[in-house]
Amino acid sequence: MSATDTVISPAGRNDIAHHLHPYTQLRQLEKEGPLVIVKGDGVHVIDEQGRRYLEAMAGLWCTSLGFSESRLADAAERQMRTLPYYHTFSGKVSGPVTELAAKLMQWAPTPALQNGRVVFANSGSESNDTAFKLVRYYHNAIGKPDKKKVIARQRGYHGVTMAAASLSGLPMMHQQFDLPIAGVLRVSAPHHYAHARPGEGEPAFVDRLVRELEELIAREGADTIGGFIAEPVQGAGGVIIPPAGYFERVQAVLKKHQILFIADEVITGFGRLGQRFGTQVFGLQPDMVTVAKMLTSAYVPMSALYVSESIYQAVADSSATIGTFGHGYTYSGHPLACAVALQTLKIYEDDDVVGHVQRVAPRLQQGLQRFAAHPLVGQARGLGLIGALELAEDKATHKPFDPARGVGAHLVRRMQAHGVITRVLGGDIVAFSPPLVINEAEIDFLLDVTARALDETLDWTRGRG
Ligand SMILES: Cc1ncc(COP(=O)(O)O)c(C=O)c1O
Repeated sequence: MSATDTVISPAGRNDIAHHLHPYTQLRQLEKEGPLVIVKGDGVHVIDEQGRRYLEAMAGLWCTSLGFSESRLADAAERQMRTLPYYHTFSGKVSGPVTELAAKLMQWAPTPALQNGRVVFANSGSESNDTAFKLVRYYHNAIGKPDKKKVIARQRGYHGVTMAAASLSGLPMMHQQFDLPIAGVLRVSAPHHYAHARPGEGEPAFVDRLVRELEELIAREGADTIGGFIAEPVQGAGGVIIPPAGYFERVQAVLKKHQILFIADEVITGFGRLGQRFGTQVFGLQPDMVTVAKMLTSAYVPMSALYVSESIYQAVADSSATIGTFGHGYTYSGHPLACAVALQTLKIYEDDDVVGHVQRVAPRLQQGLQRFAAHPLVGQARGLGLIGALELAEDKATHKPFDPARGVGAHLVRRMQAHGVITRVLGGDIVAFSPPLVINEAEIDFLLDVTARALDETLDWTRGRG
């Protein structure tokens, strides 16, 4: 049964009447109603009709440990009963914050960050906003008040607050919101499949992107540019894996012009790519790193921003002059979130979750590669436990389908009808980002459903569906 033949339940009617949904076609929702999920079980979620779905996106790329990890529930309950809340302003702190900050330093993706600090917040957006603000604070502190603009990439996703949405490179996040704010510069996404010129191989494509970056810096003036933000693998923009050499070359340019590098590891942090961080996979040397989502397996909201030692020292000096560091949220370092994060990291270590990703990821990646031959699939790609099928009307030229046809959306609906939840990103790209604890039998089920739904969608595009 598809969402369109579903009778809307009382819960669904409540939702339509009172809830303004994020990232939803609101008029369609009014007609079709929401999918109401009521329970989690391993990598599965169960809706109010009792139907079971393999959650192939881990929610929003986040529930690394699935939907029923009782060790996290126990840790949360213990903390709720001991100290449900305390803050971190004016030199106060609760015990779990101190433990988590120390633990995160052990997990820090580079030695340089191990001597820095972490700033806590509640979402990837907030932490990226913090990074944007720190680009300003830092450069004011070191006497370079003009060095403030931040370079971001097309198809980047960094969140929805004013600065984070401005850094994001997806047009629908700017339209009607009067964004981006001033001070954001844009360069191309490293998506060779979609953006390479005819006959342009990956090395030439990388050369062109590096030239574009250098020209932008020359045009704007290096002394006006303070930061560059990038996801190691672009997630919501289409699961874009950069070509070999891309980051190495980009980093060399940033270094030359003393531009801070912010790695947005909100999706990639804590094992998604088969190593603890994308920073390690791509040999990055970031000055700041944003983490969120899998930090708590999404069981409670939490994010953190690693900042380097030199940023910390400049901020500490400058804030001493001002009298305080004027930034922080009521829930920065919430003890419940810290307790859950600590338990999540403990499970990653005790159960060798990153090792598990390395063991099962080939099953997913090889399975996705088999779809590359399917008439609807322009490219199958992935790394670790993230992947995508980019659909194409013409495989040879990579010509996408007319977005109005909703081919990707149809595929995702067919998958849901067969018990798998995934998500279509702009450009008819179907994404896969299952919980990290998924096993091989579950991956096989996911692939079987994908195969079936691809064939059904092909029939539908040919008018036989
Ligand atoms: C790479 C990246 N950065 C930032 C964010 C924003 O995080 P949040 O939705 O927690 O604000 C997301 C969310 O998907 C993300 O994928």
